[in-house]
Amino acid sequence: MNQEVIIVRGNHTLKGDVRVSGAKNSALKLMAASILGQGETILHNVPLISDIELMSEVLARLGATVVREGHTLRINTADVDSCETPYELVSKMRASISVLGPLIGRFGEARVAMPGGCQIGARKIDMHLVGLEALGVAFDVDHGVLAATTPNGLRGTHVYLEFPSVGATENMLMAAVTAEGHTAIENAACEPEIEDLANMLNAMGARVAGAGTSLIEIEGVPLSTLHPCEHTTVGDRIEAGTFLAGGALTGGPLTVHGIDPAFLRMAIMKLRAMGCDVETGDDWITVRREGPLFSVDIQTLPHPGFPTDLQAQFMLLAALADDVSVITENVFENRFMFAAELMRMGADVTLDDHHAIVRGVDHLEGAPVSSTDLRAGAALVLAGIVADGETSVHHLEHIDRGYEDYVGKLASLGADIRRVSADSLR
Ligand code: UD1
Repeated sequence: MNQEVIIVRGNHTLKGDVRVSGAKNSALKLMAASILGQGETILHNVPLISDIELMSEVLARLGATVVREGHTLRINTADVDSCETPYELVSKMRASISVLGPLIGRFGEARVAMPGGCQIGARKIDMHLVGLEALGVAFDVDHGVLAATTPNGLRGTHVYLEFPSVGATENMLMAAVTAEGHTAIENAACEPEIEDLANMLNAMGARVAGAGTSLIEIEGVPLSTLHPCEHTTVGDRIEAGTFLAGGALTGGPLTVHGIDPAFLRMAIMKLRAMGCDVETGDDWITVRREGPLFSVDIQTLPHPGFPTDLQAQFMLLAALADDVSVITENVFENRFMFAAELMRMGADVTLDDHHAIVRGVDHLEGAPVSSTDLRAGAALVLAGIVADGETSVHHLEHIDRGYEDYVGKLASLGADIRRVSADSLR
């Protein structure tokens, strides 16, 4: 357990330039895909965050060697000889189940502990299983471990996903690249991280078309023709959106670099609707605001809709807007835990099932608060930057999962922020 807290003094403006790291949600899957390369894959722009350390551990348990050189990972999967991912790792990070598809693609079998529930809803894996079963995978649950086999090999198929699940699309994609024949995934998730994964798979010799749209088509190739590759992870659109929310909150101007603005079209639209000026270039976005923040209604949806991973950061903006905003969470159940912490800082939020009615207030007050998940933690730190007085944010293990040097980057933008041992507060 991390025993540190972040201390922020409020009433500061975030301005200047910041570079985003590589996308966590991409890098984790690229690491899993390296299993199919059967040799040394080189991944660049990999963020220095704890989820990447956990995925390195998952791969090491399978028999891979993972060497980090700054933001580059060298992953050698030539000697992977185990197909089992234990509960102690899967329970710490649900994304561990993304090794299921590539293990099946390489070995025709896999054993992965069932992930169980998590703090942001039930997060089932039924759609992962439906997609893989259509490819010819048979599943058995054995003492909490999901055992996958392919009695008749993997064969191409046509699947229409019930919901464009990111994880289900990726697992199916990584298994289908070595299936015999043609696979079509309809109603596939369209997230930019899926396109990044498909680009890497194609660089390894796979034949994937349409990734980034709702129809992905895969021509299976023999496993022996897949080879390792060198690939650079796309920028993290959620980290970028988090800093943009900070700029919008405090006025900016704030520029994020290392991000394709097309990944954030909906978030940019909402920032403009809230009264911000937003300018974009090839790989940068600038936000500034001189007038008041306007209230806005937001509903989270699969990409290209508004991302659930920016819901807390934008609820914070709504909390300081001029009128009432309604925020609707359509992707995850129970993702409003952030609201309770924000209310401790003076926000006025009423929850009604998957809607949050946010009445803007004119200021927030610093308070001790706890990160309830990764994005909530990041948003609470931003709340502290704009609140009156001092805020201490606890349970940093959530923030450390997905934000590289969050404190350092915010300090470079002008925040009065430090990370201290919890003991020093007593
Ligand atoms: C990924 C991202 C996460 C992001 C989410 C939605 C990673 C590591 N995580 O999570 O940051 O918030 O996409 O953009 O990439 N569901 C089922 N059955 C399934 C699969 C999903 O019911 O088999 C439900 C989930 O419970 C959830 C919704 O579908 O309510 C979306 O899940 P999914 O798109 O699969 O998200 P993840 O891949 O888990």
